[in-house]
Amino acid sequence: MISKIDHLGIAVKSLDEAIPLWEKMLGVKCELIEEVPSQKVRTAFLKVGEVYIELLEATSEESAIAKYIEKNGEGVQHVAFQTTDLVAELAKSKEDGLRLIDEAPRPGAGGMNIAFLHPKSTRGVLTEFCAPNK
Ligand code: CO
Repeated sequence: MISKIDHLGIAVKSLDEAIPLWEKMLGVKCELIEEVPSQKVRTAFLKVGEVYIELLEATSEESAIAKYIEKNGEGVQHVAFQTTDLVAELAKSKEDGLRLIDEAPRPGAGGMNIAFLHPKSTRGVLTEFCAPNK
């Protein structure tokens, strides 16, 4: 079951530049900076109420974030929903005819397992499901 929006993923060219901007804009401090080598990104998390802002900086030109910025410029790149059961959520999405980018959960930042749905099957919204990796 989906419980809430967990975070918005925002593609940025530079965390060093984006973090102070977002801290000032939201009046909160960045809680965590973490590199996720498998996704070729560095991430930074700022919490607003129940929801995180996930700033994403590419660490390689082959990163999905680098490609996103090349095509669209900086901006909101994905929406992540927290679920209690990631495997079940993926099975349901597949059953509903949605296209999965990840057939199985993989480790993301912040102690979460994650999986993406393809934006071509979700009317243009790159959608992430995530669940705490306990
Ligand atoms: Co995310």
